[in-house]
Amino acid sequence: MKVLIVGSGGREHAIAASVAKSSRVDKIYCAPGNAGIGKIAECVNIGAMEFDKLVAFAKENEIDFTIIGMDDPLVGGVVDAFEEAGLKVFGPRKNAAILEGSKAFSKDLMKKYNIPTAGYETFDDPKKALAYLETAKMPIVLKADGLALGKGVLICNTLEEAKAGVKEIMEDKKFGSAGNNMVVEEFMTGREVSVLSFVDGKSIQIMSSAQDHKRAKDGDQGLNTGGMGTFSPSPFYTAEVDEFCKKYVYQATVDAMAAEGREFKGVIFFGLMLTEEGPKVLEYNARFGDPEAQVVLPRMKNDIIDVMEACVDGTLDQLTLEFEDNAAVCVVLASDGYPVAYEKGFEITGEENFAGKDGYYCFHAGTALNEAGKVVTNGGRVLGITAKGNDLKEARANAYEATKWVSFENKYMRNDIGKAIDEA
Ligand code: AMP
Ligand code: GLY
Repeated sequence: MKVLIVGSGGREHAIAASVAKSSRVDKIYCAPGNAGIGKIAECVNIGAMEFDKLVAFAKENEIDFTIIGMDDPLVGGVVDAFEEAGLKVFGPRKNAAILEGSKAFSKDLMKKYNIPTAGYETFDDPKKALAYLETAKMPIVLKADGLALGKGVLICNTLEEAKAGVKEIMEDKKFGSAGNNMVVEEFMTGREVSVLSFVDGKSIQIMSSAQDHKRAKDGDQGLNTGGMGTFSPSPFYTAEVDEFCKKYVYQATVDAMAAEGREFKGVIFFGLMLTEEGPKVLEYNARFGDPEAQVVLPRMKNDIIDVMEACVDGTLDQLTLEFEDNAAVCVVLASDGYPVAYEKGFEITGEENFAGKDGYYCFHAGTALNEAGKVVTNGGRVLGITAKGNDLKEARANAYEATKWVSFENKYMRNDIGKAIDEA
């Protein structure tokens, strides 16, 4: 069969690598893709938001199955566009992708269906938000309602910071229309875990857990980024946490969406915080995490097409997800200066060192081919270096070893990805 993947990051490279392993797939296309994806798929120069062009391409090229990797097109309704054209596509429709697209929606859903999450208020008027904050307990968390590249969350320690945050989100519109509404949320503490799941509208199957490192600098300092590295599984995702979430979070979310007439098919990503009062949902995403996918998918034993097709067909309960009994760590190689300002266009060398090395992956995120046909840096997060190991410590040592194999000017990484493993 012929498969089209929509997106251009490390996550889509990891998806493409899994699809390439499927015995059912003859040809992979990726729109728009990147230099690394281009080695296993044919990259097509169509943007992820160009729905008409994507649909036309899928029809002309008789694509059998399309996988949407990114949040923006999902929230914008790309799945609806494919379905209207009679094409088979993996991902939630627009009315279900709102689970990620609006934090106010997701908070109201959790409240209505008693899914554990932080207490909150929603505001569409900055004056009312400011009045509320005058009497609120600090620290407090401000969240732009809409999509903001993972950057629309402000943790404010003082009333002054909170006031400045309201101005940034609602008045200066730093995150654009994402800040038309704002959620003000109780501050929680605890370890974070990312749990990805496959959902077929009715049933849900959980993938192996992971942990992301969102801040730019070692020791969780610096600005929030899309994610600087991940490990899987998380040793903090215990059997007790799993049992709690199976009872109160996972199926409850799928049922809540169905009860609202917003049947969810695709991947639900549960961002959990393990608080003293038990696990609570920090956020939902309507797609694989990036770079969570880079440590979870290489460990999945199932044929990804079988699983994704079962989600679309509503037959997920007929299969069992299986993961290797090992671990993986991904260290992101970024352009120095990310997530603020950075140079790009530098040649990347050394990727040939990964050839023939089982369990090592050089996933491309922000890369491109220059006019001379050389692979160059083309974004903030450049590569995701993933390695497996028998356990987390071995995987971490392997991943850091492999970060030395590739070079580019401006190469920056965190040196403490997976440090929490030592505390487990
Ligand atoms: P989100 O995009 O909602 O996951 O938020 C981004 C990051 O902000 C999370 O991964 C947490 O580290 C932090 N965060 C979000 N909500 C809260 C909260 N209620 N309490 C403490 N930290 C939070
Ligand atoms: N790594 C976090 C995310 O994909 O949203």
